[in-house]
Amino acid sequence: MEAHKQLTIGLFGFGVVGEGLYKVLQQTPSLKAGIKKVCIRNADKKRDAPADLFTTDRQVLLNDPEINVIVEVIDDANAAFEIVSTALLNGKAVVSASKKMIAEHLPELLQIQEQTGQSFLYESSACASIPVIRNLEEYYDNDLLHSIKAIVNGSTNFILTKMFEDKLDFQSALLLAQQLGFAESNPKLDVEGYDALNKWVILLNHAYGIITKPEELLFSGIQNIQLSDALVAKEKNLDIKLIAQAKKLKNGQVAAFVLPQFVKQDEPLSFVKNEYNGVVIESGFADKQFFYGKGAGSFPTASAVLSDIAALRYNYKYEYKKLYHHKPHTLTNDFYLKV
Ligand code: HSE
Repeated sequence: MEAHKQLTIGLFGFGVVGEGLYKVLQQTPSLKAGIKKVCIRNADKKRDAPADLFTTDRQVLLNDPEINVIVEVIDDANAAFEIVSTALLNGKAVVSASKKMIAEHLPELLQIQEQTGQSFLYESSACASIPVIRNLEEYYDNDLLHSIKAIVNGSTNFILTKMFEDKLDFQSALLLAQQLGFAESNPKLDVEGYDALNKWVILLNHAYGIITKPEELLFSGIQNIQLSDALVAKEKNLDIKLIAQAKKLKNGQVAAFVLPQFVKQDEPLSFVKNEYNGVVIESGFADKQFFYGKGAGSFPTASAVLSDIAALRYNYKYEYKKLYHHKPHTLTNDFYLKV
């Protein structure tokens, strides 16, 4: 991509994130990036944008030679994979927010990216507004990253905050998370931990060069947490949070999982409330770092998509070799006594 070239975007999806991006791009003209066409599933839905912007035919976007960037923010993982891989093979740069699809296909997509010379970026797929993927990829040298402990799902953190601090019942808290656009269209993915798991798989690739599948990691969501658990926790000055964790063991292997955990009230992650996400990293020399920001919602997620679009200007990409050969760790599930 030439540095000053106009970026002509074909956008797949006009839900919470897609519409957010549409609005954000209208407020950032200096980026010289505009949406030419949006592919949607349901043509009858009323949308706050000119009708001729929309099509239901994905080929219109994928085959338009003027469109040099595909942004894909749909929630059908199979369709997303087809769109992303075809777009790369058709010579277009791609920005995606599809966590499940990326968790299932990342190494393969990076290889397709390499064949085509295009960029495939996905900063918005984990922790929305926190630039966590780039940070993990670039900041820590191979042996320096000791551990990561994070809240990576905004909806469950929102629900736990509303239940335990504002005394809302679970269903009302979930409904509120849905109304505010934080939850997945199938909120079971948030509540039962699948969304956090997909994000954790993506981040393990970048943190430790670990290729794994969601089904290979231990995980649980917040579906079994009761108000009584929170009351017990409070008595002991603890919070309950859905925590994604990875730790490098003495033998060099990495233990990783996503589970609800007690968090001490003076720990940084205890300060992460509502739809915010937080990431605590321990590494050599830097010691402890804490990253914090909105982890769900229209504009915070669109902000990460926007940062990827901007990064296309300098052909930013994650190289397969660098990712998996430079940090070749293996995963162990033998963690329970060691973390
Ligand atoms: N449902 C997701 C969450 C949206 O709550 O974190 C952002 O990925």
